[in-house]
Amino acid sequence: MVLRPTERNIGRAARILLAGGLVAFPTETVYGLAAVAFDEEAVARVFERKGRPRNDPLIVHLADAGMLERVAVPPRRIGRLVAELVRRFWPGPLTLVLPKRPAVPDLVTAGLPSVAVRVPDHEVALALLRRTGLPLAAPSANRFGEVSPVTPRHVEAGLGKDVPVLDGGPCRVGVESTILDLTGRQPRVLRYGGLAVETLEGVVGRVVRPVRRPRTVKVPGQMPRHYAPRTPVVLLPEGRRPEGGPGDCLLFWRRPEVPGPNMRWLTERGDDEEAARNLYAVLHEVDAAGFARIVAECPPAKGLGWAIRDRLRRAAAPRED
Ligand code: TXA
Ligand code: MG
Repeated sequence: MVLRPTERNIGRAARILLAGGLVAFPTETVYGLAAVAFDEEAVARVFERKGRPRNDPLIVHLADAGMLERVAVPPRRIGRLVAELVRRFWPGPLTLVLPKRPAVPDLVTAGLPSVAVRVPDHEVALALLRRTGLPLAAPSANRFGEVSPVTPRHVEAGLGKDVPVLDGGPCRVGVESTILDLTGRQPRVLRYGGLAVETLEGVVGRVVRPVRRPRTVKVPGQMPRHYAPRTPVVLLPEGRRPEGGPGDCLLFWRRPEVPGPNMRWLTERGDDEEAARNLYAVLHEVDAAGFARIVAECPPAKGLGWAIRDRLRRAAAPRED
C-alpha cells in the first residue's frame, strides 16, 4: 500500500511503528524497511519479511546527530573525528560503525559489539523519524540478496502490497550508504556507497578500502553474491565494450553512439552520480524485460563508480546454492 507523504500518513506510519509494525520509507539512497530499533520483536519481523539471515546486522537511522548517543558510544580518542564527519556528511549517505549501547538489541547488530548508524537526507525519512521520536532499524526494503528498491513500486514488487510504503519519489542517490568502521585502529570503509570515498578521504585522510574477497566474511552485506537481479549478469573486464547475442542486454556505462533496443546505459555523458541514480532502476527494468543475460561494462574506478562496480561485481558473482 503506497501512502502519499502527508502529515496524516506520516502520523499513521509512526503509530504503526510504535505499535511494533513495519513501514517502508524513502531515503536519499534506497527505500528502507523500518522497525523501532529498541523493539526486538519488531526487528525480528524485519528479518522474517526480508528472508534475511540473522547474522547480517541492520543500520540504525536517526533524526539528527543529537540522537547518536542513545545508540552508540563514540570512543573519546576519536570524538573529534566523529564530530567532524557528522558535521560534514549528516544528513547524508554515510553510515558510521561505532561501539554500541546496551539498549540496542543484539538482534539489530547480529551480536556484534558495534552498531551502524546514519541520518538519512530525505525529508520524508526525517519527518517519520521525528514523529516516531526513536531510532529506526532499517535494511533496504527488498528480499534478501535481491536488487534494492529505489521507488515505492520496487518495494511492492519485492515485498508485496501489504507493507505500508511512504512515497518519497525516486531515490536521489540510488545506491546504499558508504559504511565507515571507526571501531578499529584506522578508519575502514566496509562498503562503497553513495558518498564517494575520495570525498571522505578529503576529510579523514587515507582510509582502509574494502577488500574484494574478505577471507573471513564478517557480515553477509560483504558476501560475494548480493544485490543481484534474477537475470544472470556478466561483468566485463576493465576497458571491454559490451557485445553479445540477441537475448543479451548490453549494459553500457555511457550512452552508446548508436543505441539499439537491447542496449541500456547508466549515464548520458559519463557522470557517476547520474549512473548511481540509474543503476537499480535499470536492473529492475531489465529484469522485467526478460533478457537471457546482462553483459555489463566495467564502470570507472572513481567517485561513485566504486560503488557501482561493487554492486555489479556482486550481482555477477556465482550463485552459491
Ligand atoms: O543506504 C543505506 O545504507 C540503506 C538505507 C535504507 O539506509 N540501508 C542499507 O541497509 O543498505 P542494508 O541492511 O541493506 O545493509 C546493512 C549493512 C549490513 O549488511 C552490513 O554490511 C553493514 O550494514 N553493517 C550493519 N551493522 C554493522 C556493524 N555493526 N558492523 C559492520 N557492518 C555493519
Ligand atoms: Mg540491502
